Amino acid sequence: MNLNDSTVLVTGAGRGIGRAFVDELLSRGAKKVYATARDASSVLSDPRVVPIALDITDAEAVARAAATAEDVDVLINNAGLSTLSPLVTGAHDGIREEMDINYFGTLAMVRAFAPVLAGNGGGSILNVSSVMSWLGMEHSGGYGASKAAVWAMTNSLRIELSGQNTQVTGLHMASTDTDMMSSFDIPKNSPHAVVTAALDGLEAGELEILADDDTRAVKATLSNDPAEFYSQAVRHTQPQAERGKQSHLA
Ligand SMILES: NC(=O)c1ccc[n+]([C@@H]2O[C@H](COP(=O)([O-])OP(=O)(O)OC[C@H]3O[C@@H](n4cnc5c(N)ncnc54)[C@H](OP(=O)(O)O)[C@@H]3O)[C@@H](O)[C@H]2O)c1
Repeated sequence: MNLNDSTVLVTGAGRGIGRAFVDELLSRGAKKVYATARDASSVLSDPRVVPIALDITDAEAVARAAATAEDVDVLINNAGLSTLSPLVTGAHDGIREEMDINYFGTLAMVRAFAPVLAGNGGGSILNVSSVMSWLGMEHSGGYGASKAAVWAMTNSLRIELSGQNTQVTGLHMASTDTDMMSSFDIPKNSPHAVVTAALDGLEAGELEILADDDTRAVKATLSNDPAEFYSQAVRHTQPQAERGKQSHLA
């Protein structure tokens, strides 16, 4: 698909990767971008940008957005939350909120906009997931589970919406330089690089976009023995000498 002349809706567009999506869509000639955010005043100002106040966990607000943005042909589900809550000892509310926003909020947007996309010839959905959908880490268990749920959802939506000619694409990436990762002093992607890879892939008709080398490397290990990644989990079954050779990612 060609983003030139497209009408796109982006969630979580006030900052971070969502804001970069809006910027790049305008550069690629989008006709109109509905930039949605919980605080609509936070989005980029441009004659082609239509701000909409939208919390994706608010069913009425989601329905209102679908009634307003009835000319959308590309839906970018970018809004997301990471609470860094460990699964066993972390705050249960934070773990639930990650699932409510990342999974159920994204699903609510898809359900509301599927008829809109059908009415406009099918169009595309881009769901923002994460490398964490395939990787367990100490403080990201709840977040990773919610992004794995987005991955699984994206795969099924692709089948469910094929009859109405909607392309459903998943985006996965590792650490990217936004507020979400501000407490980590590690190498990070630029939001612009992630968004460029995402929109290039969307325009090329890719069904899954891996935006960086770390994400490609993790995806490539999925059929490997988990012991290669999770050395802590096998320490009681391997000789001491073997343990020292294992790598640690977290
Ligand atoms: N940064 C990374 O390293 C990284 C890596 C992999 C995947 N991702 C994913 O990329 C996406 C964008 O994240 P980011 O890095 O740009 O993070 P960010 O800077 O923390 O921004 C998160 C965005 O999501 C919005 N949001 C959160 N809850 C919402 C809700 N209930 N309704 C509507 N909007 C909501 C926020 O809006 P407010 O301004 O109103 O809070 C904000 O615009 C997320 O899905 C994230 O999981 C990020």
